[in-house]
Amino acid sequence: MSELESLLRQLPAFPQPLPVLREEDLPNLPDELFLGWLNEAIESGARQPHAMTMLTVRPDGTPVGRTLILKDIDGDGYHFSTHRSSRKGLEVEANPRISFVFFWRESGRQVRVTGDATRLSEEASRRDWEGRPSYAGQPNPDWQRYTLRPDEFEFMQARLDRNHTRIEYRRDGIAWTRARVTSPAG
Ligand SMILES: Cc1cc2nc3c(=O)[nH]c(=O)nc-3n(C[C@H](O)[C@H](O)[C@H](O)COP(=O)(O)O)c2cc1C
Repeated sequence: MSELESLLRQLPAFPQPLPVLREEDLPNLPDELFLGWLNEAIESGARQPHAMTMLTVRPDGTPVGRTLILKDIDGDGYHFSTHRSSRKGLEVEANPRISFVFFWRESGRQVRVTGDATRLSEEASRRDWEGRPSYAGQPNPDWQRYTLRPDEFEFMQARLDRNHTRIEYRRDGIAWTRARVTSPAG
């Protein structure tokens, strides 16, 4: 085993005790579970609990991820913003199918949110731009606020025995169904 491998193997995993995800406690709507987990991450004092990996797919099929900030959640979906002319902006415009992955390491929780991205209005994008801490009075017509309207969620609650609990929600029209994911978890 290389020195690096042995160093990596010895790193501490999740803190104890981990929360337990019980199927009988699950809400029918995934937003409710997501908001509960996000709020618990915020209350725990975790740094940037609203940061996630956003995944896009290039025209040649290559998946690409980078960190973004979740801006809001409402009836339109999960809001994010970026430059339309950035690489991710061009990728989203060409293929709006995207995923977010949140990881809250203090509680051993991961959530994948998948759906279609759509542009929000110029007005919403302008307000978002002007609300940024770096705003210096200059407009930015390239700045775009989007929403991801989810049709899939996968919630994972880590367990010390590595038999992680995973629950998937899928949307068909306006109806959500929920199922336990039973494929190997890692
Ligand atoms: C914590 C964190 C939050 C970030 N939030 C955003 C964001 O909300 N919007 C954005 O465009 N870039 C954000 N970035 C920068 C992106 O990760 C990325 O480097 C940049 O947007 C260029 O990505 P692209 O070349 O894939 O378009 C953030 C980076 C970090 C580390």
